[in-house]
Amino acid sequence: MTFYGIFFFYIIFWTAVVSPTPILNRRDGPKTKFFDLTIEKATLSPDGFTRQLSTINGQYPGPTLEVNKGDRIVMKIRNKLGEPTAIHAHGMLQRDTPWFDGVPWMAQCVIQDNSEFTYNYTVPVEVGTHWYHAHETLQYVDGAFGPLIVHDPDDPYKSEYDEEIVVMLNDYHHTDAQTLLKQFLTPESQGVEVRKIDISTKGSKCVDNAGLAKFNFVQNKKYRLRIINTSAFSSFLFSIDKHEMEVIEADGSYTKRNKINRLPINVAQRYSVIVTANQPVDNYIMRSEFQKKCMPKAAASLPTVKAIVHYEGAPENSEAKDNPWSDSLAECVDLDHDTLQPFKEEKVPASTKKMEFTIGFHKNSTGVVRAFLNESTYIPDINFPTLHKIFKKIPLNDPRANAFIFDKSGEVVDIYFINTDDGEHPFHIHGYKFWVLGTGSGNKVNEDELNTQNPIERDTATIPPTGWIAWHLESGLLMQLVTLPDEILKMHPPDEWTKLCETGERER
Ligand SMILES: *[C@@H]1O[C@H](CO)[C@@H](O)[C@H](O)[C@H]1NC(C)=O
Ligand SMILES: *[C@@H]1O[C@H](CO)[C@@H](O)[C@H](O)[C@H]1NC(C)=O
Ligand SMILES: *[C@@H]1O[C@H](CO)[C@@H](O)[C@H](O)[C@H]1NC(C)=O
Ligand SMILES: *[C@@H]1O[C@H](CO)[C@@H](O)[C@H](O)[C@H]1NC(C)=O
Repeated sequence: MTFYGIFFFYIIFWTAVVSPTPILNRRDGPKTKFFDLTIEKATLSPDGFTRQLSTINGQYPGPTLEVNKGDRIVMKIRNKLGEPTAIHAHGMLQRDTPWFDGVPWMAQCVIQDNSEFTYNYTVPVEVGTHWYHAHETLQYVDGAFGPLIVHDPDDPYKSEYDEEIVVMLNDYHHTDAQTLLKQFLTPESQGVEVRKIDISTKGSKCVDNAGLAKFNFVQNKKYRLRIINTSAFSSFLFSIDKHEMEVIEADGSYTKRNKINRLPINVAQRYSVIVTANQPVDNYIMRSEFQKKCMPKAAASLPTVKAIVHYEGAPENSEAKDNPWSDSLAECVDLDHDTLQPFKEEKVPASTKKMEFTIGFHKNSTGVVRAFLNESTYIPDINFPTLHKIFKKIPLNDPRANAFIFDKSGEVVDIYFINTDDGEHPFHIHGYKFWVLGTGSGNKVNEDELNTQNPIERDTATIPPTGWIAWHLESGLLMQLVTLPDEILKMHPPDEWTKLCETGERER
């Protein structure tokens, strides 16, 4: 079963230049940073094709939020989207504020249209490259997302580059995500992303020469590219012609320098790489190639998506020569976790519990292909979020909640996911990071080959053979880890949060 479709005609690069380092990275103690974000629909044509997008403060993607490690983030959300929403800060652990995690029907009731809600939490340990996005249905696929950068005064690499650039990679559709999802969740789709959609449709204006994204380099400067993959489901190989990259961060964890030519990134993953502008002054191509092996045949004709790296002093409008890297790289898998070593080796605690799950996709009894974790499809309780149930001591025993309770402090759990599907699946965890002990093919974990010495710690990893995120969430490929409910009971959520469940109708 494959989640790739012929419906994504464009993938575009979005860029937001973050101010030269280290503008933040101060040492004058934690601050409170206020962000006022209005989520609303707007008609834009970022790639030349005019369509309605979900925007943040009128922008697509949303503004780049920058804070320092230790700061408090106060994020006021004004919902003018015409539908309910909730905002998740991807990579923020919410250790003392689980009610601000932004996942509807797990962590909170939704923020109704025409109302406001303020997320308010600290980032005491989080550092690095992250993003925030609407977590209600598929709003982020329609544009409601932006970068969230946590600067670190103790970043071991901060003196090793001159400037930072944020590169957001996403698949971009000319049809809104709800329409795509409706087609996907029908018996006719057979779980394959569906019929061809006429892109010249509906009186939408299409402008030629919308232009390629351009990244400005100065010769001999070093750049930290913070690459964020906000795709709905395409896997890319990211590279810059003639320029090597050195990976230094994965999902907010520092890594040893790891020199590569091409970088695979799966949905929701983030990497930082250092690139030195050590080539002759010229224009170069930055490219994102589809990993076609993990896509259906219909995708074979998808173009390589390009942007321009423009050296200061190079001709403005001349075309860049094609000089792609030609080394081969395994497709449909993460950057090899064995070569991705943590910057500092830490002792990994021994596991105290083991759980195994089988991932599968097949028809439910109504004939619609859904995702199953051990034969159970996650269905949210849209009247009663999980966290509210915990506070009210209501048992989480509905099997469709896919809820697993961990009530022993200090438990270390090994979770094995066995993927019976022929598609790759990125898995992401909220509130924690996990160590990647190993990956492989077949339907049995090879315990002798697990890396318990120096595994990388991250929050999103791909389960081979092949990739994605939001769609499977909608398809029910999701489980809830309820950790230390007795400790949660001692916490005090704010009234504003409790009140979210008292307002408005609850239908989605
Ligand atoms: C944010 O939370 C802190 C700690 O609970 C509180 O002191 C502060 O008043 C809150 N700020 C806002 C704007 O809600
Ligand atoms: C981004 O994630 C999607 C979904 O898995 C993946 O298909 C794509 O290759 C990723 N992008 C890159 C640059 O790897
Ligand atoms: C999931 O199913 C497998 C295979 O039937 C079983 O061994 C495993 O214990 C199940 N996992 C859980 C958490 O129940
Ligand atoms: C199968 O999935 C569809 C789409 O989500 C849903 O409407 C239907 O109720 C499901 N059938 C069963 C028996 O759960």
